[in-house]
Amino acid sequence: MITDLFGRALDYLRVSVTDKCNLRCAYCLPAEGVPLVPHRDILTFEEIERLVGVFASMGVRKVRVTGGEPLVRRGIVDLIGRIVRIPGIESVPMTTNGLLLAQYAGFLKEAGLSRLNVSLDTLRADRFAEITGSASLPGVFEGLAAARDAGFKRIKINAVLIRGFNDDELFDFADLADEWDFDVRFIEYMPFAGTTWERGKFMPASEAVARLREKFALDPMEKRSPSDPAYAFRIPGRKGSIGFIASVSESFCQSCTRLRLTAEGRLIPCLHADVSLDLRGPMRGGATDGDLAALIQEGARLKPKAHEDFLKNFSSEAARRRKMISIGG
Ligand code: GTP
Ligand code: 5AD
Ligand code: SF4
Repeated sequence: MITDLFGRALDYLRVSVTDKCNLRCAYCLPAEGVPLVPHRDILTFEEIERLVGVFASMGVRKVRVTGGEPLVRRGIVDLIGRIVRIPGIESVPMTTNGLLLAQYAGFLKEAGLSRLNVSLDTLRADRFAEITGSASLPGVFEGLAAARDAGFKRIKINAVLIRGFNDDELFDFADLADEWDFDVRFIEYMPFAGTTWERGKFMPASEAVARLREKFALDPMEKRSPSDPAYAFRIPGRKGSIGFIASVSESFCQSCTRLRLTAEGRLIPCLHADVSLDLRGPMRGGATDGDLAALIQEGARLKPKAHEDFLKNFSSEAARRRKMISIGG
């Protein structure tokens, strides 16, 4: 079991398989992009498989595959199959922008991928182009249809809530949840390096909930697991659900069971902490699985109790140094 200094047992690993992306979301990365990591510095499939095997031997049960955009990594279907087969791993979901799902959904299902979370912040083509730099909103819907046809159930839609950008689409997303039986989740906008985050664009989840309540009765749902960052509601008579990840206004750090592994093989114990620990160097230098396990446990002990308060400290230089694109959310 991997435990941190605050008694949390860490059984959920988020693996970023590439730092590349086929979109340019303004809340995720700087307009000028980020320098790409040279190919030799990216973990090979064998290295990812080995590391996940070590994590699994230490109690990790869920491996979420992220990016950048995970589907732009060549051979991704093969990699999913490899992770699925690692003893101890019970669930292998993916977070994607959906653009390549039309091509890959069937193969991902066959490879054993458990579930899909798809990032989609607006249902309007002009706004989609504005926030992502791409005109491909129809491509995301083709991908969602392909995922549904491939048999993926309980697909989650992640929408970053941005005041003045998509806060007038709450009801449209509620309709989307009903029409497609999706679990839509609004994520509070978090500050990251080079993004367009500013205090005025932040909207607390509580405000969005209050607006939805003006029109709908919202029935609170039980959390599927104690470490689920979202709280969700059903609208009586409607399919799907509407949820909120209030990572800025209401910290859920006390129940966090997540560790992260970057595409370059750095262990990141917390999305918002400026600490990480290199696993690739020691692995390439001949470390045994036991050595790697000891390093992982050391990395876990760097996990802070909670992240800083972004609203009190919203110009935090530290927050502005961390890059979402390379951490994978
Ligand atoms: P499931 O519970 O398996 O659906 O996954 P998830 O919600 O952890 O995964 P997803 O990639 O869909 O994450 C949604 C978003 O929640 C992330 O991009 C972050 O914005 C936020 N989030 C996830 N983990 C953390 C965390 O440890 N801390 C904070 N502050 N936010 C997080
Ligand atoms: N604030 C909140 N969520 C973000 N994501 C990316 N950048 C941010 C941010 N600044 C979300 C994406 C994706 C998930 C992995 O992280 O929309 O769904
Ligand atoms: Fe790509 Fe996701 Fe970042 Fe958008 S949020 S640029 S889709 S990695």
